[in-house]
Amino acid sequence: MTASGPDRTPTDSRARATAGRYRAAAICIPGLEATCAAELRSLGCKPKPAGPGILEFAASARQLYATNVWLRTASRVVVRVATFRATDFVHLQDHAARIDWSRWVADGFAARFRVSSNDSKLYHTKAIAQRLHQVSVPPSIGEPEQLFIVRIDRNTVTISADASGQALHKRPWRTELGDAPLRTTMAAAILLACGWQPGTGLVDPFCGSGTIAIEAALLARSLPPGGERDFAFRQWRDFEPGSWASVAGSIATARSRDAGSGIGPILASDRDGSIVEAAGRNAERAGVAADIELRTHVVSHLPGRSGPGLVATNPPYGKRVGRRELAGLYGRLGAVVRDRLPGYGLAVLTPDAKLAAVADRRLRSVARFRHGGLPVELFHRPATIDVRPERGQAESAPARPVAGQIP
Ligand SMILES: C[S@@+](CC[C@H](N)C(=O)[O-])C[C@H]1O[C@@H](n2cnc3c(N)ncnc32)[C@H](O)[C@@H]1O
Repeated sequence: MTASGPDRTPTDSRARATAGRYRAAAICIPGLEATCAAELRSLGCKPKPAGPGILEFAASARQLYATNVWLRTASRVVVRVATFRATDFVHLQDHAARIDWSRWVADGFAARFRVSSNDSKLYHTKAIAQRLHQVSVPPSIGEPEQLFIVRIDRNTVTISADASGQALHKRPWRTELGDAPLRTTMAAAILLACGWQPGTGLVDPFCGSGTIAIEAALLARSLPPGGERDFAFRQWRDFEPGSWASVAGSIATARSRDAGSGIGPILASDRDGSIVEAAGRNAERAGVAADIELRTHVVSHLPGRSGPGLVATNPPYGKRVGRRELAGLYGRLGAVVRDRLPGYGLAVLTPDAKLAAVADRRLRSVARFRHGGLPVELFHRPATIDVRPERGQAESAPARPVAGQIP
């Protein structure tokens, strides 16, 4: 099959006409639903929550392609293939045999079933996948795979075809990682949930491999987070080359825009010189190296900047660093932001609300999710006009948001 899809038969064109709208779902990390939903709305979709980390929406082919290209906080976009009840293998195979699998699996491709089961009579996930292969498409013996996500919840089976292919959070530029790297979709969510405005400043004083700064530069330039990668939907029988060409055209337009326009100063620093070099190479691969000033120094050497802008960071945490040491570090972060970055808001991702309060007592929780197996929380304080308050007035200074919060 070519990138523009297989030869079409009359049956295929009928399928295409009826498949004009997909029942799609964006999958994100539970806790990022509000931010992902705001992104979907900006692409003209009407998302509805359908469980933790699941947002369902009706999509035209163009919207399905655009969500895969432009969503910064989703891990995957899937399309519902079938929903039915099954309490035994006979029912499962009976329903599955009626699905037109060739619509989703092109010649030369194999199927892969990722199965999960909750409170259901069918629970042996490997056996379920085997039975599905028997009535659909065999597993891979070297062929590329089309992934299907099979969720069985209280005996209701939902089969979804993965439209993305490689997970969306696996950005192609991100080949070098430091300790405790932040997931790209979380970095994007920090910026979007705290209402960071591209064109204003962005500082990450614990930048590690540069995830937050690179996501910020891509956002500021309106570049697609995954670059020019491929997607699973391009192999589907009802793939629409014309709709794809229109989405690809929007990527080309973004690329042709004046690189420097609309981008505020983005500063990323870390005390570890080797990880700062790696961040530079990541930024190079992402095509945004020119937008980011990289520096090697400890947080207390952060240079001063006038606002508006946002300090967005995930400082060290965890058992390896002593509690006292961490409190000192968060305290230094808070003092540096207050003293040298007037006009900057602060966004801190940490599992520890008490440490966040050490950095700044005005920080408020805006999102909660899991990162590296740990529950973490995103704390935010918008920028204030008067950021050098008189002694004793610090807590009463009115907070003026730099940008509207995304609900
Ligand atoms: C949790 S990691 C940040 C990961 C980063 N967001 C990423 O995606 O790769 C914390 C970083 O803080 C850095 N760090 C620790 N103490 C520091 C200090 N006193 N000043 C500046 N950076 C420090 C570490 O070198 C590490 O890269």
